[in-house]
Amino acid sequence: MKQAQQLLKFIDDSPTPWHAVATTVAMLEAHGFRALCEKQVWQLTSGERYYTIRDQSSIIAFVAGNRAPSESGYRIIGAHTDSPGLRLKPNPEQRRGSYLRLGVEVYGSPLLATFADRDLSLAGRVSVRTDNGEQPFESRLLRFDESIVRLPNLAIHLNRGVNKEGLKFNAQEELPLIFSQPTPKGGSFKALVAERLQVDEADILAWELATYDTQPGTFFGVDQAFISNSQLDNLASCHAALLALIETVERPADITQMIAFFDHEEVGSCSTKGADGSFLNDVLKRLSSAFEDNQQGHHQAVANSYMLSADMAHAWHPNFSSQHEPEHQPIINSGPVIKINTSQRYTTDAHTEALFVAICEDEKIPFQKFVNRSDLACGSTIGPISAARTGIRSLDVGNPMWAMHSIRESAGAVDHDYMIRAMSAFLRY
Ligand code: CO
Repeated sequence: MKQAQQLLKFIDDSPTPWHAVATTVAMLEAHGFRALCEKQVWQLTSGERYYTIRDQSSIIAFVAGNRAPSESGYRIIGAHTDSPGLRLKPNPEQRRGSYLRLGVEVYGSPLLATFADRDLSLAGRVSVRTDNGEQPFESRLLRFDESIVRLPNLAIHLNRGVNKEGLKFNAQEELPLIFSQPTPKGGSFKALVAERLQVDEADILAWELATYDTQPGTFFGVDQAFISNSQLDNLASCHAALLALIETVERPADITQMIAFFDHEEVGSCSTKGADGSFLNDVLKRLSSAFEDNQQGHHQAVANSYMLSADMAHAWHPNFSSQHEPEHQPIINSGPVIKINTSQRYTTDAHTEALFVAICEDEKIPFQKFVNRSDLACGSTIGPISAARTGIRSLDVGNPMWAMHSIRESAGAVDHDYMIRAMSAFLRY
């Protein structure tokens, strides 16, 4: 339960992928991890702890093993920092009658209806001009703590069919968020951003801002056995991996242990910092060149490695039982779910599945297996993309949850502890 409490705090501190990386860095630095800049030469020492960030929202951290990667390989836990939602347009202000609305783009595949009637706010990063000649602008994190935007529902009297047909939003016309009742003097959104960052409005050059829910995470259920928050997919996996890595650093290991968190999973991973970009391969090659004097070292290391692609899984929902495969019904608080798909939407194969089952059995951690209904399309993860790009054997695992891609998801408090223990054992495997 203590870890689940820490998870809720981690998410509350991380309303966006940029904040998630900042929160991760704070925890890593508190445990002796040192920053590496991709622009500089890396001098690495066995047994030391490092991290490197790409463009503020993807991060790789590792403990360099006591033996060369070519001999012992890497153990990598991958996850993603982003969650589906609404992102502010560059010129967001839209006046309609007496109201100023903020226009949004849809990021990934959120359950849009869940964004209605919530105490929403905005957070993200803003690029601000500086006086520094070498670096003419800098990126600043921004978070409005109070709720500043809202998507009010339409009353049932004006939408009589809603309970039968579902709540639908046209993304262009019906999603703009209520922001203000502007006065003749102005009160623009950009002016508000400038005021919060204490900069001139003219110095704001660009932004990436996301809606987030101001309601903190909570426990629920009679034994407080369940948790609810935004972004459980996939900050729960990031947090579990982070705690697993931090837990293992005190024990010197031969193997190089690594966590790799990527942005842009929810939109397909194709970017410089997404899992389909070069980030992980670049880091692995630099590690090889630091520790190997042999050109083949990198390829040997890859062949000796395993990756655990961690992303949340669909728990069986008792109210919608028919949507699940009857013999594969992941239950909340019953342990990590091994995800299997013959079309390779998940990377798990008999070899990597056996590896994880053996770990769970040795550590006395319960586990479950999932396949989709054969007549439903299967989701995917960063697993297949990373495995294809790196050539590293992989499996897909995640904790069971309800309401994936809702702004208010739910999962099990006990499962988080199981996952941390399983990941910790995987890093030592
Ligand atoms: Co996910």
